[in-house]
Order: sequence, then C-alpha cells, then structure tokens
Amino acid sequence: ETTGPLSGKRLVVTAGPTREPIDPVRYITNHSSGKMGYALASAAVAAGAEVVLISGPVSLAVPAGVDLRPVSTAQEMLEAASKAVDEGCDIFIATAAVADYRPEVFASEKIKKTNDNMSLSLVRNPDTLATIAARADAPFTVGFAAETTDVARYATDKMQRKKLNMIVANDVSVPGLGFSSDRNAVTVFWPEGSESIGPESKQSIAARLVALIADHSNRI
Ligand code: PMT
Repeated sequence: ETTGPLSGKRLVVTAGPTREPIDPVRYITNHSSGKMGYALASAAVAAGAEVVLISGPVSLAVPAGVDLRPVSTAQEMLEAASKAVDEGCDIFIATAAVADYRPEVFASEKIKKTNDNMSLSLVRNPDTLATIAARADAPFTVGFAAETTDVARYATDKMQRKKLNMIVANDVSVPGLGFSSDRNAVTVFWPEGSESIGPESKQSIAARLVALIADHSNRI
C-alpha cells in the first residue's frame, strides 16, 4: 500500500507492558495486553505507513508489514524508541503501559523468604514519551492516558505537561473496556478540540485514530 493517508510516513508505536525484574524469577508488571498498540500498528500499515513497533512482552501475533522490536524493561523501551526516532520518525504513538518504577537493585540470586515482612525499594523509570516529545527534532507525538477519575482533566494536563500534539484518554474504570479486553472507548484531545470514539473494537478505534492522526499531523 503506497496510496493511503499515511503513505511515505514513518511511525513508531510503543505497545504492551514493561517487566521490571526483582530477582531471576520475579518481576513487576501490569495488565496491558498490547492489543491497542498492535491494532494501531496494523491500521497504520493499512494506511500506507512504515511502522516500527516497540513492544513489551505480549502474546500477540506480529502484525504483517511491521518492524517489530521486542523489549522488556522501561529502560530498554526508551533506548529502542530513541534509536527508532534517530532513524527517522514522523509520528510517535505511545500506547505502552510503562512501569513508572523499577526495583532499585536487581538481586542476582533468588530472594529467600523469611518470617519477617519485607519491603522493596523502587526508583523512577525514564519516561519514553516525554523524552521523545522534548527532542528538538520531535515527531508529531500522540500519548495515551489510562485514568480512572477526572479523565478529561488529567488527560489534557498530561498533554500540556509532556508537550504532546494529541492525547488519547482511556477510562479504565469501565469493566470490559481498556486493559486486556478486545474493546475500548476513548476520547481524543488535541489543543483545539476533542472527539469521543467507541465503545467498539480496538481495531475500529485504531482505524479512526489513524485517520485523525493523519489529518492532524498534516496540518503542522
Ligand atoms: O494493551 P491493552 O491491553 O490493549 O490496553 C491498552 C491500554 C489501556 C494500555 C492503552 O490504551 C493505554 O491507555 N495506554 C497508556 C497506559 C498508561 O498507563 O498511561 P500513563 O498515564 O501511565 O502514561 C501516559 C503516557 O506516557 C502513555 O502514552 C505512556 O505510554 C507514556 N509513558 C508513561 C510512562 C513512561 N515511563 N514512559 C512512557 O512513555
């Protein structure tokens, strides 16, 4: 496909959870399945884009035509994203549910249990989306926001704070939508407007999002 609304464009999409190791057998993660990000990557290929998909550990088939770059931790996601943007990127879409914190130390041997309570010291992870958006050569950047309350306010705050061109707000408090499910409902915000999409399949939301992103990224 070379004639779609994204033909000639290079996209980088992050998807899935990250996995932050505690010791050789344990890690911290979340419920992201990667479905939203993989659906977006497929929709972007269908729209004619060249797509790099940076994915945390998921159990989904690789979408046809996508350059898949698997990662595990948040730090690896940042490295892979920076490299992909260095290679040339017009549009950056962050759907990944990145762990905000990682264990301060990785225990090289399995941690043994005792009869005492135990605590784990966590340190902040780097923010891939904010790092890409802050580059002098920043692409058109689209963030996602998974929220459970005050969705519109938190999402628009995040768009301004992270200097994004668009943000896709997900109300993850609705059962059957958001994390892991096949369906979703979102509200997309850009500086001058917004549009609600769904509830519907992640595939059809992805197709609508790609059309909106193609349209808005052409205006700047
Ligand atoms: O994977 P699925 O099961 O299909 O579920 C899809 C989803 C619910 C995970 C997805 O639609 C979604 O909402 N993703 C964002 C999840 C999130 O936790 O966002 P956040 O509010 O923590 O982060 C805001 C934005 O910054 C996101 O675009 C995120 O990718 C990015 N980010 C956050 C932290 C970090 N260290 N690096 C980042 O790039």
